[in-house]
Amino acid sequence: MLSTRFILRNSAASAFARRAYSTQVAKFNGQKNANGNYVVSFIEGDGIGIEISKSVKDIYAAAKIPIEWESCDVTPLLINGQTTIPKDAVESINKNLVALKGPLATPVGKGHKSLNLTLRKTFSLFANVRPAKSIVGYPTPYENVDTVLIRENTEGEYSGIEHTVVPGVVQSIKLITKEASDRVVKYAFEYARSINKPRVLVVHKATIMKLSDGLFVESAKEIAKQFPDVELDFEIIDNTSLKLVTDPSKYSNVVMVMPNLYGDIMSDLASGLIGGLGLTPSGNMGDKVSIFEAVHGSAPDIAGQNKANPTALLLSSVMMLQHMGLESHGERLHKAVLKTIASGKENRTGDLKGTATTSHFTEQVIKNLE
Ligand code: NAI
Repeated sequence: MLSTRFILRNSAASAFARRAYSTQVAKFNGQKNANGNYVVSFIEGDGIGIEISKSVKDIYAAAKIPIEWESCDVTPLLINGQTTIPKDAVESINKNLVALKGPLATPVGKGHKSLNLTLRKTFSLFANVRPAKSIVGYPTPYENVDTVLIRENTEGEYSGIEHTVVPGVVQSIKLITKEASDRVVKYAFEYARSINKPRVLVVHKATIMKLSDGLFVESAKEIAKQFPDVELDFEIIDNTSLKLVTDPSKYSNVVMVMPNLYGDIMSDLASGLIGGLGLTPSGNMGDKVSIFEAVHGSAPDIAGQNKANPTALLLSSVMMLQHMGLESHGERLHKAVLKTIASGKENRTGDLKGTATTSHFTEQVIKNLE
């Protein structure tokens, strides 16, 4: 096996890492404060969110990354039957233009819609960028996974339109609009161009959902005319699932874009290829505001036990730093995380078959900051 030192010092690997977590096309227009720092809204989240957020804060403080966190409470309010994000949190995020977010568990049985969906709608975060890249030093059946998918983030089955037709019969509506399809597909093309991937692959099931997925597909064909330098291809979701788990290398040169539910499922599948949910970051991108978060949820089964892997949130913050133009800080943090994971099972958390606690892992990342 190649030594960790070699891999971490290898500039091609660094460039690869930069590309893997880039969000490139969305612009960040934030300003530094009087202390020379950017202020970032921080939604610590529920369950393991508390532990992994502490890990991020401790590492950022040790690394002296020029960021001041502004804690945001997004405990939802029901106003006129609508799940609503508290005004202070909305103001904080709109002011800072960028947020880091731990996982949120939507309260069950209190009449709330998904809080994650509410956040995405409130800030018009229309594209969810989800890279899955093999972690050097943590071997999995496939060594060179390097996929990125863009999930439509505001509609589809997640529109929250469900009702009982008659007792025992319910209906859930999948809403697809041309407007939302156009903007996410356009983002995918711009993103592919910005990270030099030659092809956009639309993943769909228009063979069955002829109107809804059909609209998404038609939108892609139309938007593609603006990007003659990027190829466009289509694949049926079940076929993509089979091919992705059989040979992920086939997807290294494409940016996948897909409706909301497919993106949710396919990104977990891609996470599985690289070692699990504890490793997979994401960015929710809007025209103005962006919110970065791990793909995983609040993991109630291990919450409060000092067992959670903070890597996915840390890598989400690497995406955030790149988005904010703080690439060198992002790269330094990224290297320290990879070096820690590669340094042995005693420094890895249980989800990666290791024995480390969250706090031990955090200490090791701090030690490995170069
Ligand atoms: P989950 O992602 O929380 O957990 C699935 C499995 O992965 C569990 O066994 C968990 O222990 C493990 N896991 C997840 N993250 C881990 C980490 N960082 N380190 C070690 N192990 C980790 O999914 P689940 O159980 O379906 O959802 C729990 C709650 O999270 C639900 O309320 C759900 O709505 C919410 N959720 C929130 C998300 C968000 O805020 N973006 C995304 C997904 C779920």
